[in-house]
Amino acid sequence: MRVTMIPGDGIGREIAQAMMQVVDASGAKIEWEIVHAGETVLQETGELVPQAVYDSLERNQIAIKGPITTPIGQGYRSVNVALRKKYDLYANVRPIRSVGQTPSLFEGLDLVLFRENTEDLYAGLEKKISDDEMHSIKVITRSASERIVKQAFDFAVSHQRRRVTVVTKANIMKLTDGLFLEVAREVAKAYPTIEFTEILVDNMAMQLVINPQQFDVIVTENLYGDILSDLMAGLVGGLGIIPGANLGRNMAIFEAVHGSAPDIAGKDLANPTALILSACLMLEHLNESEAASRIRQALDQVLSHPDNFTRDLGGHIGTTAFTNLILAAMQ
Ligand code: NAI
Ligand code: MG
Repeated sequence: MRVTMIPGDGIGREIAQAMMQVVDASGAKIEWEIVHAGETVLQETGELVPQAVYDSLERNQIAIKGPITTPIGQGYRSVNVALRKKYDLYANVRPIRSVGQTPSLFEGLDLVLFRENTEDLYAGLEKKISDDEMHSIKVITRSASERIVKQAFDFAVSHQRRRVTVVTKANIMKLTDGLFLEVAREVAKAYPTIEFTEILVDNMAMQLVINPQQFDVIVTENLYGDILSDLMAGLVGGLGIIPGANLGRNMAIFEAVHGSAPDIAGKDLANPTALILSACLMLEHLNESEAASRIRQALDQVLSHPDNFTRDLGGHIGTTAFTNLILAAMQ
């Protein structure tokens, strides 16, 4: 199976290297088509995403990518947001679970967040009214809301989950969030075996911190999903261990939740677990479940010992040494 691989910026190359080594050792037959996008390419070619990247994505329809730095300021759109929009990767799925004995605030937490990935305030509709006033337009459509909520419920059914919670701020944004909530209520009726609950996003932030076990599958809009998923990562050991999938009808792009971590780039300090787990989601998507579970078992085993933790988890081990431990555990 040929897969597009975009290493990305910052810690991207280090963790991509680790991820490919682990996947290659798992028994999965993956052929990597490596193409480059991001800051480094921008300096070389003047383009954040060269045409070769689009060509590769369209040819393979499946990809895994490292993080890409988005320069703050005008003139640059986030590559991530652009790819999600261009290929209509409408579902951003983020499983929140600790691995092995990673320092989790809650035992056995197992949540899955479904984040709408194409609209909301990420639609890119920002407008300058004057030097002193800027507007950003929030877009919510019935069709995009319906397909993400359906995806969350379908997942709940196929994975024997008990509950789906929809998160909005419909009390204030009565039209946009109101529509998302109304659609969620309608969709929920078609799934009588799954319990449906609704909550406002501010209360959700607090509930996640004091009692996250009450939740199971969570579905929300783009901005709330972005923020809450980082919060949820913090509940189970941080951004270094949370994978993600961007799913559309014709394409899937897998990536970690975290960014390019410029503060630790090039220092052999990055935790590759999140990207390796993203590869597991990709292998499962490709029906390579055996290879995926071999990798998951090795990660669980290695991360059961605090001696094997990278610095983000409170340990001292570097990216390369950590990767070698996983490779050894898979033998
Ligand atoms: P970040 O996620 O890169 O870093 C936040 C903190 O977590 C930092 O202290 C970092 O060292 C740590 N961290 C993140 N991943 C880690 C890992 N694998 N191992 C160990 N520690 C890790 O977020 P930040 O600093 O806000 O963003 C940096 C850049 O990344 C920005 O340009 C941003 O736009 C971009 N970004 C890209 C994403 C993507 O490509 N999907 C997603 C999020 C941010
Ligand atoms: Mg984010």
